[in-house]
Amino acid sequence: MRTQVGIIGAGPAGLLLSHLLHLRGISSVVLERRSREYVERRVRAGVLEQGTVDTLVAAGVGERLLREGLPHRGIELRYGGAGHRIAFERLVPGRAITVYGQQEVVKDLIAARLAADGDVRFEVDDVAVHDIGTDRPYVTFGGGERLDCDVIAGCDGFHGVTRPSIPDGVLTAYEREYPFAWLGVLARVEPSAEELIYARTERGFALHSMRSPEVSRFYLQVPAGTDLADWPDERVWAELRTRLETVPGFSLATGEIFERGVTPLRSFVAEPMQYGRLYLAGDAAHIVPPTGAKGLNLAVADVRVLTGALARFYADGSTELLDGYSAACLKRVWRAQHFSWWMTTLLHTFDSDDAYGRRLQLSHLDYVTSSEAAAATLAENYVGLPYEDGDPAGP
Ligand code: FAD
Ligand code: PHB
Repeated sequence: MRTQVGIIGAGPAGLLLSHLLHLRGISSVVLERRSREYVERRVRAGVLEQGTVDTLVAAGVGERLLREGLPHRGIELRYGGAGHRIAFERLVPGRAITVYGQQEVVKDLIAARLAADGDVRFEVDDVAVHDIGTDRPYVTFGGGERLDCDVIAGCDGFHGVTRPSIPDGVLTAYEREYPFAWLGVLARVEPSAEELIYARTERGFALHSMRSPEVSRFYLQVPAGTDLADWPDERVWAELRTRLETVPGFSLATGEIFERGVTPLRSFVAEPMQYGRLYLAGDAAHIVPPTGAKGLNLAVADVRVLTGALARFYADGSTELLDGYSAACLKRVWRAQHFSWWMTTLLHTFDSDDAYGRRLQLSHLDYVTSSEAAAATLAENYVGLPYEDGDPAGP
């Protein structure tokens, strides 16, 4: 089998890359380890930056997103017995976020690929990449199959096979682990607030998000290594109430919890994001803690850059943009790393923090919620900084 771009992983990065390449007349094959049902049901991100929405709409996969997505013009920071709104419409006029589940983006992209006769293969085992240091790389999978390609895109997430196939000594990893995780649940209940609430309490962080007028999404900071079995529904609701019902007049509506999971928090960047003819995109190259809602959005930004570089390569044979791929991505990657680390340290409780550290955290929160300049810093990062190429429709 032969294709131009072999793509490993059918998450948002791999699927969007395959779709954007198709729009430019470049062929690809996507190889995914899990089943279609599994990737369409995997509950993860919910917040799309303005640029992510613009990219999906310009690519023709934004119809349902525009119909069902929930545009938000602010978020609330809740701490010390009061709520403080970060008002995007005032701080970053014309920019907003859209709440739309990552698995809905994945469903829309799979539907678009299949409608265009795209080659997306699910439940593919034993994927391995070969000869990535040459200009004739290939992929083997499924007990004897072989895919020859010009270029391989490693879109297989943090635990994938592509990053570890880069020879030792090429990559530098920058990493930070946090001593806590997020316990996330989906509940069949109308959201108790119109906008997302990021709550900092002495017992830890809590986040009230949503998916639709009927479904709410919640997260609780829990110790790393937490076992879900220790968190029956009543305990989840009791803890959410304690951490969220901290301002006068707010009461949390509860309902049936139908999905739950624990996610460790981690910051990670591998540099460079490429080796030979292998290009890493999304979580395969970098991870952020979810507090800044940046992971999916960064995957989209990488894929835009890679699409532009591949389009140039196939247009005139120039590898100039491909050679600069990693450098072009890393500026945004590191901005998001800083923002996600900053939001995490601003809002979580760290056992290692002494009384002095807690005072500093509260002072920082007071500053962010009382200074227009500080609030604007949060807002412009949260809604997403403009792309380097400046074109909402992508390169
Ligand atoms: P993935 O989605 O991980 O996709 C990789 C794919 O590769 C998977 O389908 C996997 O099955 C496949 N794969 C792996 N190994 C192999 C193999 N060996 N062979 C073949 N296929 C393989 N981001 C945001 O922007 N906003 C948010 O609000 C947000 N909230 C989050 C909340 C939680 C609880 C979590 C866990 C994450 C959140 N994120 C958020 C991060 C976001 O979900 C990820 O950054 C995003 O999924 C990255 O997309 P990706 O395509 O790079 O990787
Ligand atoms: C979500 O709705 O899943 C979500 C929202 C905001 C975040 C992270 C996750 O920061």
